[in-house]
Amino acid sequence: MKLDVQGLTVTFRIPGGVVRAVSEVSFQVRPGSCLALVGESGCGKSVLAHALLGLLPGNASVSGSAVLDGELDLVSAPPPVMARRVRGRRVGLIPQSPATHLTPVRTARAQLEEALRELGSTCDASSLAERFGLRPGDLDRYPHELSGGMAQRVANAIALAGDPGLLVADEPTSGLDRPLVERTMDELRSLCDEGRAVLLITHDLRAAERIADEFAIMYASRVVEIGSLEAPRHPYARGLVDAQPDRAFVPIPGTPPELTRLPSGCAFEPRCASAVPACSAVPAFDNGVACHVAS
Ligand SMILES: Nc1ncnc2c1ncn2[C@@H]1O[C@H](COP(=O)(O)OP(=O)(O)O)[C@@H](O)[C@H]1O
Ligand SMILES: [Mg+2]
Repeated sequence: MKLDVQGLTVTFRIPGGVVRAVSEVSFQVRPGSCLALVGESGCGKSVLAHALLGLLPGNASVSGSAVLDGELDLVSAPPPVMARRVRGRRVGLIPQSPATHLTPVRTARAQLEEALRELGSTCDASSLAERFGLRPGDLDRYPHELSGGMAQRVANAIALAGDPGLLVADEPTSGLDRPLVERTMDELRSLCDEGRAVLLITHDLRAAERIADEFAIMYASRVVEIGSLEAPRHPYARGLVDAQPDRAFVPIPGTPPELTRLPSGCAFEPRCASAVPACSAVPAFDNGVACHVAS
C-alpha cells in the first residue's frame, strides 16, 4: 500500500491560543519500504500518526491530504469510515509500550479473538499467533505473565489481524532493552519486506538506522529533510546525528521553540550556527531539504 502525504497541517485550539503541531508536512511511503520519522520529543510526531489514523481529539483542525493507494484520503474520510473500514484493515497501529496497551484483566487470546471478531475475520487466533512467533499456550496468559518481547508480539498480532497494508509504529521500542529493540526492529522489517508500507516513528536513530530505507527529520512541527542519514544536509539533521553516543556525542545547544509561539522564520534559526539573514523567512522544502544554507 502506498501513502502520499501532502501539506498535512494540524493545529489545536487551546485556551488563549493555538498549538501548531504539524505544519505543511509532505512525504511518501511506498509498499515494501520503511520511512523513519525522527525528531526531538514534542515536535509533532505522534500528532501526525494520530492524524493518519483519524484519532485526533475534537479541538484539532486538519488540512492537507494523506492518500492511500491514490484513492482514499485519510484526512477527509468520515469518522465511521475510518472506524469500520480503515483502522486495523488498511492502516494498522503498532502501539507504544504494548504491555500497557493490552487490557490487564483479559488473556492475550481473548484480546486477539476480539480483534478478529471486530474485523469479521475467519482467521484463527492460534495460527495468527504462531505467525508472530508465539506458541498457542502463550495466548492463554494474562499481560503481566508475558515478557516484554511476547507482549510486543501479541500487540503486533492484534495490529496485523486485519492484514493492513500500511503500518504506523509510534515509538514501538521505548522502554525496551537493546536486544529487544533490535528484535522488534527486525520483526518490523520483515513485515515491511512482505510488501507493507511502514512509517516508523522514533527518537532512537540507532534503531531506525537498522531498518529504515529513508528518514524524514522533523523539527518544531515541520519536516526539514528527507533522505539518508549518511550525509545529512540540514544543520538540525547534522546536529541530531552528531548527538548520538556512537558519533561525536555533542548535544545540539538550546531547546526547541514552543509550538504555541513558533518564530516567523526558520524555527531552527535561534539554535543554528550557520544562520544567515535569509533565515528570518521560512525556507521552502526543495529537493529534499528546507534550509537557506544547506549544502
Ligand atoms: N489534544 C491536544 N491539545 C493541544 N495540544 C496538543 C494536543 N495533543 C498534542 N498536543 C501538542 O502537540 C505537540 C506535539 O506533540 P506530540 O506529537 O505528542 O510530540 P512527539 O513528537 O513527542 O510525539 C506538543 O506540544 C503537544 O503538547
Ligand atoms: Mg510521541
